[in-house]
Amino acid sequence: MKLNSGALVLSLCLLLAFLAGQPAAAGRGDGGKKDGDGGKKGGGDGGKKGGKKDVDVESTVRMIVAKAMEGKPRVGAALVRLLFHDCWVHGCDGSVLLDTVPYGSGSGEKDAENNIGLEGFEVIDDIKAELLRLADGYDNVSCADILVLAARQATAILSRGKIVYAVKRGRMDGVVSSAADADAVLPPSTFKIKQLKDNFKARGFNTRELVALSGAHAVGVAHLSSFVDRLNTATQSPISGAYQNALRSHTEAQKTAQGTNDPIEFNNIRDMDKQFQNAAGYVTTGVDVTANGVLDNSYYKANLQNRVLFRSDWELRNDTDTGANNAGNALDEFGDNAGKWFLAFGQAMAKLSDIPADGPRFEIRKNCRKIN
Ligand code: HEM
Repeated sequence: MKLNSGALVLSLCLLLAFLAGQPAAAGRGDGGKKDGDGGKKGGGDGGKKGGKKDVDVESTVRMIVAKAMEGKPRVGAALVRLLFHDCWVHGCDGSVLLDTVPYGSGSGEKDAENNIGLEGFEVIDDIKAELLRLADGYDNVSCADILVLAARQATAILSRGKIVYAVKRGRMDGVVSSAADADAVLPPSTFKIKQLKDNFKARGFNTRELVALSGAHAVGVAHLSSFVDRLNTATQSPISGAYQNALRSHTEAQKTAQGTNDPIEFNNIRDMDKQFQNAAGYVTTGVDVTANGVLDNSYYKANLQNRVLFRSDWELRNDTDTGANNAGNALDEFGDNAGKWFLAFGQAMAKLSDIPADGPRFEIRKNCRKIN
């Protein structure tokens, strides 16, 4: 049988993602069921649970995410970021979805400074409501699981099927959500390379995984306040002068266009219009400039030209460690080889989805925004 290189990468991704499966994490309710590649039917909760209705969880998630993302890749980007911001804070426990924080002190995760711009909550609500409806109100899928599955589906769609990975189910929902806890562990965009590496290391992620996951900034948007430090001519972090000037005038115009002093811009210069790209001196060699909103390795090509929004993105070029521990080596590797990045990103997303939850009590929420 002849395989083209795309099919080979896809098959390898599937195989490795499957092999990379970890034992069930703490707080799992069903012994860690494994869902397949997000592209096939079944693999979900399979048969009936306690005689209750059989619901195809995977297809339901797939359908609702696909519908929500129709013509709106930003929705997919929001779901991918939501997963990171959930799992980084006390593990994957759906805590970022909570509106109310009866067990926390102060405000919840949604109010954290580093959670500026989080979106995608309605998609999770819609999936939850549909699963409940299909199961006649019987509920065995946690909000944490729904987010994991939704982010995986968003990744598959955003990458046009290039990034697929296996995840297990059986996570439980936590009851604590604290803005202070979120700000204590989520990395701000002003972090330097050592802080970024330490932050990821604390969660068990190595340098290559940090660089692979940062490639998510190929999609979505950011508020001006998240990169305003980069517009300061006296800034210490190198940024292309042409890109900086183009951004400065673009954000000024966007303040009026969007009617806010904190407008949003595309994370990826690839998604900006041609006029902006020309003004910014963007070199498009090896970039599919027609692939607006697509999760590909163009982030690395932009970074290697000093044309990325966040200080934390650029910092990946500023690593003095050597060998496998050097972030710059991984940037080069992923910029040169899209297949390697698809694989590394999928593996790191699977690992992210598997961070065990810690907390005083767990449940399966009826409503993802409040505890039962
Ligand atoms: C390495 C440290 C990271 C830093 C400092 C960082 C910082 C940020 C910031 C400041 C924003 C813009 C927020 C706003 O102004 O609205 C953003 C957006 C985003 N981030 Fe990150 N991030 C990091 C890692 C990650 C990871 C690991 C992922 C996922 C795997 C991710 C996925 C995204 C996505 C998809 C967006 C766009 C979201 C949207 O359009 O709604 N980021 N990030």
